[in-house]
Parts: sequence; structure tokens; C-alpha cells
Amino acid sequence: MNDTVIEKRRFSDLAHPPAWPLVGSLPYFDPPRVHLVFEEWARRYGTPFRVHLGRRWMMVIDDPAEIGRILRSRPGAFRRVRPVESIFRELGIAGIFSSEGADWERQRRMVMRAFDPAHLKTYFPGLVMVTGRLLERFRRAAEAGDVLDLQQEYMRYTVDVTAGLAFGVDINTIEQGDNVIQKHLDKVFPSINRRMAAIFPWWRYFKLPADRALENDLTQVRQAIDGFIGAARKRMDADPGLAANPSNLIEALLAARDAPQSGITDTDVSGNVFTALLAGEDTTANTLAWLSYFLAEEPHAQAAAQAEADRELGTRAVPDDFESVDALEYIAAATREAMRLKPVAPFLSHESNEPVTVCGIELRARTPVGTLLRPAGLNPELFPDPLAFKPERWISDARATERESAAKRVLMPFGGGPRFCPGRYLALMEIQMVTAMLMKNFRIERVGDEPVRERNALSMLPEGFYARLHLR
Ligand code: HEM
Repeated sequence: MNDTVIEKRRFSDLAHPPAWPLVGSLPYFDPPRVHLVFEEWARRYGTPFRVHLGRRWMMVIDDPAEIGRILRSRPGAFRRVRPVESIFRELGIAGIFSSEGADWERQRRMVMRAFDPAHLKTYFPGLVMVTGRLLERFRRAAEAGDVLDLQQEYMRYTVDVTAGLAFGVDINTIEQGDNVIQKHLDKVFPSINRRMAAIFPWWRYFKLPADRALENDLTQVRQAIDGFIGAARKRMDADPGLAANPSNLIEALLAARDAPQSGITDTDVSGNVFTALLAGEDTTANTLAWLSYFLAEEPHAQAAAQAEADRELGTRAVPDDFESVDALEYIAAATREAMRLKPVAPFLSHESNEPVTVCGIELRARTPVGTLLRPAGLNPELFPDPLAFKPERWISDARATERESAAKRVLMPFGGGPRFCPGRYLALMEIQMVTAMLMKNFRIERVGDEPVRERNALSMLPEGFYARLHLR
């Protein structure tokens, strides 16, 4: 009989990168590349590994089954790391993304209703109109031979769509170019990112010029948000039926705020409006930009996507019904493939609320756990030739089905469990619409041959990607 006792691994046994007194490994956190630093450590030390965050140790994992377990166990056993809540609250962005426990549950129900597929269908004509505006802007740029920063173009598009769908306002940043919201909103993400990776919360004690600039950006966005809220109030005063049957997120938030003992405050309303703007802008724009990048780099994929757009759109320049968007199988596969190689949220941080076991290791309450979402998508057993952009791998064929569904399970670009991204359907709809419009009307050519780099600004974008569009 074998009586060998297998020693249980402890958290303190895990390998870790160099850690300095007081600051731990934080000096290695270069905010724009922090996800790459973590991925490199995962390769060097194996997973799970641990990393010293100055005052606490974080466990870092990349096993998709364990990641799924953590995501599903919220809001009970796990929460987002504490600085998310405090930093977002200080900036006046306290909303569904940063709230926890009962507060989060209350807000989540409202937000989900506003973004569900049925509601999305009613907004569809708005989506077609905004996509038509982008087409006109791209046409002018193509005729002038302009070099475009597509990520910036897509940011205008996504802000317009979120404002239309969630707030019932047509802000039209696509045609107005230098819109106030757009200009100031773009500065907020990198600032949050810097604060999340800070060794010391300096902004609570003194203000650097960057902090004063951030305050100005926030004030400007808040004024615009107050305008949206004021307009919604007027609509609801004029049509009291909207309180029982809100037509968008902002009306739903206001109706909830007004209900007796709702627990929803004015701050919750504006925090959630701000959250929707922020959460819907970069993530979708960056995914669109990565997809355009791959289509520009891979002529076979661009040709296949163009053929599909020609077939499904016929003489239309923009898909103008739900069914045509749904039928874009190749473009959907290309989107999934872009999200596999370039998930724009490649690293999510959580914290245990109670003692838990992760990857067989016992952790105390309040232990941060970082989850790397990309490595599972690069597993060669599920994704042969894992670094290649091959949308074809997602096109159903009876033999591939088993592997395909295993492959789908390990990808979590929208997170998972009860906190999975409520904007998922909207985001996929926007990406399909814009890419079909682009493929039907243009050929994308990448300009420049410098390597395009991943830059993390809370969500990850293709730095140095410029393109010229040619009318087809
Ligand atoms: C391709 C585009 C997008 C990607 C890749 C993405 C990704 C994510 C991820 C990874 C999370 C964290 C989920 C988790 O913790 O399990 C998240 C949460 C969230 N997303 Fe998105 N997102 C996208 C678009 C959008 C859009 C368009 C909106 C709304 C306009 C939105 C609103 C939110 C909100 C409100 C949360 C917080 C949910 C909660 O904490 O309960 N997202 N998203």
C-alpha cells in the first residue's frame, strides 16, 4: 500500500516575480502594458503564480474552468478588487460595474432590461441611421485619400449608439467631430487605469496637473450627463406612462429612483449613465479596430468577408434589418477570432469575500485573484495554429462541433456568470453592422509597416494602426 502523503500546495509556495519592500512588484506594472507583463510572468513562473501588490499578494490564474468558477461565484464568494469601488466612487462613476452585493443586484436588474435583445430590436432603426452616418464619413475620407485612425472613428460611433439606445439622445459625434463628450470621455479611461496601478493614492493628498485636467474632463462629461437626465425628466413629465414602461436605460433609472423606498439615488442614476457611456465606448470600438486590423492584414479574410457582405446586403450599403445582420456567419466568425487573439479585457481582477479554494490552494478572505483570459484561447489542442487569424475555424461543420463547443466555452471576452457583460448583444450587433458596411463598400489597406502594439487603457487597443479606405 502506498502511504505517501501528498503535501497540499500553499499560497506561500507559489513562484513569484521579484518583490521589493513596501512596493512589491508594482514598479514592474507599466499601466499601458500591464496585461503583457502578467502574461509573460505566467509563462515564466507557470500558473498559478503570485504577485506582491505592495500591501497584499495576488494569486494569478489562467485555467478557464477555475476562472469560470470564480466568475459564477459572484457576488457571494468573490467581488471586484476593492480599489475599483473606491476609485470609481471618487470619480462620480459609481454604478453597476463598480458596485457590490445588494447595491449591485438592484442596479443589475434595471440595466439588463435596458440592454436585452428585445429592446435592442426596437432601437435597430437608430443603429442603421448611425451606421449610415459612419458610411458617409468613410466615403468622404476614401475620396480624399485620408489616412484614418479607425479606433478613434469607432469611438465616435459607439458613443453615438450608446447615447441613442440608452439615453434616447442623438448626439451625433460622428458628424460634429469634436464633440464635448467624446473629447473628455476619452481621457477618463487612461486616468482610471493609472490610478488602479498606483503604488500610492497620491490624488487623495495632492493634485498633479493631470489630476486637475481629469477633474475638468469629468465636470464636462457630467454636465452633458445632467443634460441627458434633464431631457429624460422632461419626456417623463410630458408622458407619465413612461414611468411604468420606460423606453430606455435613463428612463428606467429615473423611474426606479422615484419609486418609494427604492434605495436608488440621484448619484446612482448619473453614475450608471456615466458607466454605460464608458463601458460601451472603448470596449466595442477597440474590438472593431482589432477586427479591421486583421481584415487589413489578411487579404483572404477580407475577400471572404466582402463576398459575404455582397451576398447578404445585395444592393444595400448598410444592413437595414435584423435578419441580415444575423445572417453574417463569416463576419461573426471573424469577430470571435479577433476576440480570441485580442480580447480587449485580457485581465480581470477579483477578490475573495470569504475563505475559498482556487486551483487546489486555500486562500483567506480578501485575497485578490487575477484572471488571465487570453491564454486559454491560445491552447493548440483546441485551436490548431493558435496564433493565426482563421475565422474559418469557427464556421460550423458537423465533425468540428465537439471541439468547437469546447473552444467556445474557454473564451470569455465578455466575462461570465451573473456579472457577464450586459452590453454583449449590443456590442456584437454594432460590430457586425459596421464590419458589413465596411466590407460592402470599401477595401481596407493598412498604412505603415511599424508593428501594431497592444496598449491597455483599461481596455486594450491597437496602437499604431492606421488605414486608408478604398471605395469598391
Ligand atoms: C466588444 C465589446 C465589449 C466587451 C469585450 C466587453 C467586456 C466586458 C467584460 C469583460 C466585463 C466584465 C464582466 C465580468 O466581470 O464578468 C464587462 C462588464 C460590463 N459591460 Fe461590457 N463589454 C463590451 C461592450 C459593452 C457595451 C456596449 C456596454 C453597454 C453600453 C457594456 C456594459 C458593461 C457593463 C455595465 C458591465 C458591468 C456589469 C456588472 O458588473 O454587472 N459593455 N464588459
